[in-house]
Amino acid sequence: MKSLIVANWKANKGIKEAATFIKETRTVLEEVTEAEIVLCPSFMTIPLTFALLENSSIKLGAQDVSSFDNGPYTGEVTGEMLSGVVSYCLVGHSERRRLFGEDNEVIRKKIEHLRKYKITPILCARDERDIPEGLSAEGLVVAYEPSSAISTEGIYHPDTPENAKNMAKNFKEILGEGCPILYGGSVNEDNTANYLSEELNGVLVGNASLDPQTFLSLVSSARLKLNVVK
Ligand code: PGA
Repeated sequence: MKSLIVANWKANKGIKEAATFIKETRTVLEEVTEAEIVLCPSFMTIPLTFALLENSSIKLGAQDVSSFDNGPYTGEVTGEMLSGVVSYCLVGHSERRRLFGEDNEVIRKKIEHLRKYKITPILCARDERDIPEGLSAEGLVVAYEPSSAISTEGIYHPDTPENAKNMAKNFKEILGEGCPILYGGSVNEDNTANYLSEELNGVLVGNASLDPQTFLSLVSSARLKLNVVK
């Protein structure tokens, strides 16, 4: 599997900002062959970005999915609605666990829904406890993302690449060697290369994915590193 560079826009960017981002980055991002670029906009701008990225090599991801299928669940966005639109979906981000009370059982259901609709789940895990017990690793991507490393108000405080590699090893002991592990938490244009290695299969980027030029520099340093690691 190619390395992944996943942009998590969180609750940022309305229609105008999302359109500007695509306009300013699409051509350069499409030249990237060393990694798969995945943009995760809010549900509000997924239809727009889907239209703007038609026939593009840039992939779309959702930031969350309902644990229910279509039905009387006001406000929910289901796997079926996302199918054919996004290729990936984040699940179990620590912000959802902390602020929206999501636990491993809900997260397991979300992963099952995504699998049903052929969407690759990117399970965010702060440590081994965030991996639902007995979860199959089939088609799963895991992002090691300790909450202490998530940038706050633009201040970066990443975990060390050594810790990230160790945690990747622990996750692979549970899920098997074949499960791709990403690192997330304060990844930016200066440090992204440190997290691309044989043990880590990519990065999950929040704050540094918001500004088009910053994201392009991050991608360009990732490309340099990936050409060396290859
Ligand atoms: P950050 O966020 O890159 O701003 O630290 C990453 C994330 O929470 O997914």
